Amino acid sequence: MNAPPVLLGPISLDPKSEAPLYRQLYDQLRHAILDGRLPTGVRLPSSRTLAKELSVGRNTIVAAFEQLLVEGYLEARTGAGTQVAALLPESLLEVGGGAAKPADNPSPEDLLAGLSDRGRRMMGVQRVPTGYEKGQARAFQHGLPAIEQFPFGVWSRLLARRGRAVQGRHYDYHVAAGYEPLRDALATYLGAARGVVCKPEQIIITTGAQAALDLAARLLVDPGDPVWIEDPGYLGARGAFFGASADLVPVPIDREGLQIDVGLKRAPAPKLIYVTPSHQFPTGATMSIKRRLALLETAKQTGAWILEDDYDSEYRYVGRPLPALQGLDHAGRTIYMGTLAKVLFPAVRIGYLVVPEALIEPFTIAIRLTGQIAPAFLQAALADFITEGHFGTHIRKMRTLYAARRQLLIDALEKYGQGRLTMPETEAGMQLAAHLPDGIDDIELAKAAARHKVHTTPLSTYYLGGPSTKDRNALYLGYAAVADTEIPRAAQRLVAALDELS
Ligand SMILES: Cc1ncc(COP(=O)(O)O)c(C=O)c1O
Repeated sequence: MNAPPVLLGPISLDPKSEAPLYRQLYDQLRHAILDGRLPTGVRLPSSRTLAKELSVGRNTIVAAFEQLLVEGYLEARTGAGTQVAALLPESLLEVGGGAAKPADNPSPEDLLAGLSDRGRRMMGVQRVPTGYEKGQARAFQHGLPAIEQFPFGVWSRLLARRGRAVQGRHYDYHVAAGYEPLRDALATYLGAARGVVCKPEQIIITTGAQAALDLAARLLVDPGDPVWIEDPGYLGARGAFFGASADLVPVPIDREGLQIDVGLKRAPAPKLIYVTPSHQFPTGATMSIKRRLALLETAKQTGAWILEDDYDSEYRYVGRPLPALQGLDHAGRTIYMGTLAKVLFPAVRIGYLVVPEALIEPFTIAIRLTGQIAPAFLQAALADFITEGHFGTHIRKMRTLYAARRQLLIDALEKYGQGRLTMPETEAGMQLAAHLPDGIDDIELAKAAARHKVHTTPLSTYYLGGPSTKDRNALYLGYAAVADTEIPRAAQRLVAALDELS
């Protein structure tokens, strides 16, 4: 199928000018091609359409196009209209014609030097390359749900229904904080499943949990403010707080979660404390009730905000999950956040915040000003998905599937690894950390595994501070999205990589 014609930017033709109209049009199009505003391959509108848009005779357009065709700026293809030429003659670049010559152009390094300090720090939050290429087998990429298990038939029916029902409120600018029925549905779900105590108005719908992190960082943190973050911890959170020019304070994790006493020694007056208490990212530790209460007390004493990221709490396979911190907080210091990326699929880009009542207005204004508003018809379809029961059914189904896949992975690593890989006893989530034998470096093993077409993430890359310890020498392995048959095969390939380095 041909690409649609480009929407041309402003073209002004002056009938009083000495230059004929076709020449003015020719000059403006040529400049746009030379400075890249009209890139190669872009299709121009037809001469008839353009004549109408510019209120000139069609001959004017045809004359300008013909001149550009003759000079090699444009090319005409039967059935595909007139396009910007795929290969501009080299001499065109020399002509310049108002565009900067290559020698005058700043180098990419010069341009990067113009980044803000914040921007430079955000760029530092990147994965260590391990040689894994996109499109290779997915075992054991973390963070991915079993997308092919999602009930796309139901989902497309709900989307189509909302798409057909053209109601002004879905197609207009809508309530920035989110579509009310979705906020109602989430408030009910979070209350029942997670012990979150809130009114629907306290729920703010975002374009994913990452947007929730960004909004919280912008609204609650000033440049230079100390922010406690878990160490090891989620890189996306680190990036969002860098984006707010926060002073990041790494706080270590033990079996009970965040080591509050260490945090207080490092920065006694944190502005914000970021935690994943249900299932710590990436160690999998569940914060004990004692620690939860101590954390709430610390927030009260220091005046800090707590940002509770409950990113994958739906997936707990044994016992009942501990209720969210938010539900235990009587001082209104906790902001709860979650995502639908793990329950539905990552591309849905919908997450949510539960904010104390006093923060509803600031968050609503911030979401409007930052433009991180999820499309209303998508939110409406999602509300239907939840209230009609498909959400609960899908979670239950995935819980059983992921628990089985988790066990398959543990069994395969034990069988092929013969005790060389050890897995902590956590019974939750979509991924686990496999700890490595002495003398094997996790980054080197991840690189070797990539050569065997296994995607893994070295755990050490999630650490910010402190000396290197045995605890951090591990690979983070996602199993939820890997087919049952592939799990043992990929585990065997991973062990082959380990053998190579042993
Ligand atoms: C701990 C944690 N928080 C937040 C997110 C971001 O979720 P989203 O895809 O909704 O931006 C992720 C995604 O992997 C995560 O692991």
